Amino acid sequence: MEKFYITTPIYYASGKLHIGHSYSTVAADTAARYKRMRGYDVMFLTGSDEHGQKVEEKAREAGVTPQQYVDDVVSGFKELWQLLNISYDRFIRTTDDYHVESVKKIFKQLYDSGDIYKGRYEGLYCTPCEAFWSETQLVDGKCPDCGREVKKATEEAYFFRLSAYAGRLLAYYDSHPEFIQPVARKNEMVNNFIKPGLEDLCVSRTSFQWGIPVDFDPGHVVYVWVDALTNYITALGYGNDRYGDYDKFWPADIHMVGKEIVRFHTIVWPAMLMALGLPLPKKVFGHGWLLLEGGKMSKSKGNVVDPHILCSRYGVDAIRYFLLREIPFGSDGVFSNEALIHRINADLANDLGNLLSRSTAMCDKYFGGEIPEQRAATAFDGELETLAKETKAAVEDHMESLEFSSALAKLWAFVSRTNKYIDETTPWALAKDESRRGELASVIYHLCESLRIIAVLLTPFMPSTGEAILSQLSADARDWDSAGDWGRLSGKGIQKSEPLFPRIDEAEELKALEALMGQREEKKAEIEGIAQIGIDDFTKVELRTARVAACEPVKKAKKLLKLTLDDGTAAPRTVVSGIAPWYRPEDLVDHTVIVVANLKPAVLCGVESNGMILAADNGENDVRVIFADGLNPGSKVR
Ligand code: ME8
Ligand code: MG
Repeated sequence: MEKFYITTPIYYASGKLHIGHSYSTVAADTAARYKRMRGYDVMFLTGSDEHGQKVEEKAREAGVTPQQYVDDVVSGFKELWQLLNISYDRFIRTTDDYHVESVKKIFKQLYDSGDIYKGRYEGLYCTPCEAFWSETQLVDGKCPDCGREVKKATEEAYFFRLSAYAGRLLAYYDSHPEFIQPVARKNEMVNNFIKPGLEDLCVSRTSFQWGIPVDFDPGHVVYVWVDALTNYITALGYGNDRYGDYDKFWPADIHMVGKEIVRFHTIVWPAMLMALGLPLPKKVFGHGWLLLEGGKMSKSKGNVVDPHILCSRYGVDAIRYFLLREIPFGSDGVFSNEALIHRINADLANDLGNLLSRSTAMCDKYFGGEIPEQRAATAFDGELETLAKETKAAVEDHMESLEFSSALAKLWAFVSRTNKYIDETTPWALAKDESRRGELASVIYHLCESLRIIAVLLTPFMPSTGEAILSQLSADARDWDSAGDWGRLSGKGIQKSEPLFPRIDEAEELKALEALMGQREEKKAEIEGIAQIGIDDFTKVELRTARVAACEPVKKAKKLLKLTLDDGTAAPRTVVSGIAPWYRPEDLVDHTVIVVANLKPAVLCGVESNGMILAADNGENDVRVIFADGLNPGSKVR
């Protein structure tokens, strides 16, 4: 079986991800799913880049250890990838023991071979990007990647002899024209970086701690890019015993990366591999940026778009479709709510959604939901069958070059052609004439079979939608090759369901989105406006879990419930809570709640309350008790 190894960058664990980050990963996922369907043995790697000064600073700001900080951020990454239906085979964290072990070995090996040597660094450093720049690389005196201030920095450091590899890199580019894609990025590398002269790269730091130690020189940590780039081989088991797939999967078939990190992947990484005597990746694809009006989306600039909100409103597949269809892969593209809603309405609700609902409705109406056998052919059948074949071939061609948008455009041309076939064959007219029942059967069959083929070809891009359509058609033939065989739909029943993509009222939706974003801004301002407290203030509040042993209304008080709590002590505790509008007594009994245990007693409507239970304002007039079910009564909450 042929192998296919594809990687995304490993994401900086310095904050939440936005829809722009999803772009590399959704693209890589689509390519990986496609290759799996084509029968390849696929390794799809993603992960998190967790070391460096930025993480150390963020953790300090948050008052936690760097490890706690990255653990939290990375669980957010994994949750986002699950939401976006990302089918990665392996997830590497640069704080994983096996990776750390490998990086130490690699660093030592390069030092022993003379590719790494000790020297002094004086230069201009961009802290957010973790990058040193030379005077000539700056743009208007600022970091060429992010446009922020750089500062002079000097330290004793180790250097990687990058300068020695310029000639070999150029020769490699020449003999492997497919190595850097799109080709314009190769010219950029050659003209802007290699031709002006490569300088040796500073590969250790002493100004902070949070990194992989250089184990033969305490105080130095490995430069985060050297640490990060090696992930592509350590994740396969290079230099460690955790995995044993290096021989099988290396060299990588594709490193999928954003354009600003092409430099690291096509200059630094190949030079490191050459120094280690290892083969180079076959292809580095530098895709463009998702922009918001006014510039690149970036978490450090704060102008981020939350993928959770988008997915919860439109569904994951609509977001995947938009990302892959709207922007030719390799170019930059602007993300806007208008463009997103427009695509959903035009392509998904109208073109695809209507084709599915019209076809299944007619199958229902004219054949009682049983997909008919194809009988007498109509004059339009041949053309549709031919286009189906051509579409599959075209999608395959585009996928080989990672032209996701063109692949989808070809697929949608077939969707439109199939819709047009309905207008041409006028099944509603055929249905009026019993002698044309055979033609009617052929039309319905052709519609359903076209949909089956569309669904198969769509699956790498929109996995759930592909599935849903195939299920509605009760299709057994779902493998890639079956999309090339006309007539694989067996005469089973249609399983109709709700429209996959309901039409969105554009004006209303834009207003709702703005309100939603506005609310977030308001919340932010609200929280920022509240005076901060120290940890010592907080620890004055004693929070404990408690089981609700009994609960009853308080007489003459509409809003109050009296709770009898088991707080882990011998004596029952009575708490009065204003939650009667939202909870009946029986809703609470046997649940575990959180109680403020050292609140001074207070008498409410004649009942003495000893503490209060925690609840949240979930929205207007919607109060929710915080349940801690499963925890032992009396556990300290902190
Ligand atoms: O660069 N549009 O991590 P990262 C498109 N840790 N892509 C975007 C984007 C946008 N608006 N914003 C970010 C790093 N990306 C390093 C990688 S690999 C050995 C180490 C993409 O979290 C970006 O181009 O800053 C990159 O490909 C990926 O998100 C991770 O970015
Ligand atoms: Mg970045």
